[in-house]
Amino acid sequence: MSDIDIEAIKTSLDSEIEEAGTLAQLEELRIKYLGRKGIIAQLTSVIPTLPQEERRAFGQQVNDLKNKINSLLQDKQKTISSVPDKETSGPRIDMGMPGIVQDLGYLHPLTKVSEQICAIFTSMGFRVVEGPEIETEYNNFTGLNIPLEHPSRDAFDTFYLKTARASGEHLLLRSHTSPVQVRVMKSTRPPLAVVVPGRVYRPDAVDASHSFMFQQVEGLVVDKNIRFSDLKGVLEVFAKRVFGPDIKMRFRPHFFPFTEPSAEVDISCIICKGKGCSVCGRKGWLEILGAGMVHPSVFKAAGYDTVKYSGFAFGMGVERIAMLKYGIGDIRLFFENDLRFLRQF
Ligand code: PHE
Repeated sequence: MSDIDIEAIKTSLDSEIEEAGTLAQLEELRIKYLGRKGIIAQLTSVIPTLPQEERRAFGQQVNDLKNKINSLLQDKQKTISSVPDKETSGPRIDMGMPGIVQDLGYLHPLTKVSEQICAIFTSMGFRVVEGPEIETEYNNFTGLNIPLEHPSRDAFDTFYLKTARASGEHLLLRSHTSPVQVRVMKSTRPPLAVVVPGRVYRPDAVDASHSFMFQQVEGLVVDKNIRFSDLKGVLEVFAKRVFGPDIKMRFRPHFFPFTEPSAEVDISCIICKGKGCSVCGRKGWLEILGAGMVHPSVFKAAGYDTVKYSGFAFGMGVERIAMLKYGIGDIRLFFENDLRFLRQF
């Protein structure tokens, strides 16, 4: 027998495997014992040097040792892998647990109604454009033929800003979306058909039907041979799409400085169908918007040829349309952010 003590190697192997706590340490042991220059390789290389009669038994021992090392390494590897270490351990995830449902956001009813209004007009060939909420006095008034003595120019009827333009021109929160008419005519040539959604501001005391801020959708069409009947046709399509095919519409003569002739447009009351009720104040009609043919002075201010071109414009309050459509009695509900109200749309 050689003087190599295989039993001693086994004992030390046992304790080394026992101590190894990581896969890296285990790999070191594998190299130490099974590597190309490892203990098993060294023992194997001894075999040919032994006397003939000892070789077989010694070879058998080396082989047994090798098998033992292999199985010890394998077993230990399994235990190490199944114990979570600091990096990989964390809260256990139960894939069978029901998930946490996220509340999905949705659009404000006024945004929806404004988009619906615009969609009706874009389906008729209108383009959607927007303008700034801070306007020049020119675009809000002068360019729209609103005279200097008009009450809405009064400081108490309009939100003026303290800062003015470098030119000295007053800036204000627009009181209607009509200034975008001026902007569009300045930047484009006819034919044009636009709708303009946006917020407007008036220093009104807040009550069930008034707010210092509300939304409008403006419309403007300019081309050759645009007639009042075109305005009526377009608005009738609009009213029937919003309020239903049975709705009736009427034009009442009215005055706006920037249209001539001008009209206020009513629909038959959607509650009483025209018979007269508390919603329509026993009149049977509900006002939904203002409209008219673009005033020649507005065309002149924009540099348009008043002989060649004609056009119509209209403006409506989005809150009013939404209140009529959904039967809402108080405009303040739109702005109070009460989810019990908002979730209904
Ligand atoms: N700008 C008007 C308003 O705010 C509405 C309107 C627009 C009327 C266009 C006629 C034409 O009351």
